[in-house]
Amino acid sequence: MKIDILTLFPNMLDGLLSESILKHARKKKLLTINVHNIRDEASDRHKMTDDRPYGGGPGMVMKIEPIYATLTKLGIKLNKRVAKTSLLNIDRKKTRIILMSPQGETFTQKKAAFLSKRKHLIFICGHYEGVDERVKKYLTTDTISIGDYVLTGGEIATAVVIDAVARMIKGVVGKEESLSTESFRNNIFDWPHYTRPQDFKGLKVPKVLLSGNHEKIATWRKDRALRNTLKRRPDLVNRHKK
Ligand code: ADE
Repeated sequence: MKIDILTLFPNMLDGLLSESILKHARKKKLLTINVHNIRDEASDRHKMTDDRPYGGGPGMVMKIEPIYATLTKLGIKLNKRVAKTSLLNIDRKKTRIILMSPQGETFTQKKAAFLSKRKHLIFICGHYEGVDERVKKYLTTDTISIGDYVLTGGEIATAVVIDAVARMIKGVVGKEESLSTESFRNNIFDWPHYTRPQDFKGLKVPKVLLSGNHEKIATWRKDRALRNTLKRRPDLVNRHKK
């Protein structure tokens, strides 16, 4: 999968995308990630990427031109004028252009699975008061929020989405099994895990896990998974598919 990130703060993403599992995925060429500074494509003398909002009000708004120019530089096919409510001339099954914004659809495991099957993802990280509405309307296929809170910008949110998407790409996470049993795969939490020692300052590992009885262990795990989910996220249990 190829990923391009459009941002005004390229350094923010460096560490997050070059460690651990993502580092290995990039090394194995399962994932190519390139970060682009939107400012590089600002055409005016002052390299302006934002401007005051029409109609007045506080803050600055990110301009559409440098974003359009960066997408053009990446080889994304764009129409010169709006055709059919979009400036994009792309295969939406293969390529998704995603604006990160607190006003987007809430990111879920299901969306991560959907995105993990695409060839090319492009993230636009918003900043300041927002991004010119025409970017959202005419230059993107998706708008994603990672939750009901406002971050200083879309960079951390982009890293969150990339992390969740990358681990669903075949070959990125070591054991396929750790994907199939994990939290949220089936709208239900994972069961509790324990490892050595059996007794830590009097805190003991549940006996059933030491019994060697696989049937009993499986039943216990299913029961605990359901109980944990019911306690903390009852809304998920209703959506759980057996
Ligand atoms: N930018 C600012 N807040 C955000 C959020 N919650 N999700 C995605 N992008 C954002």
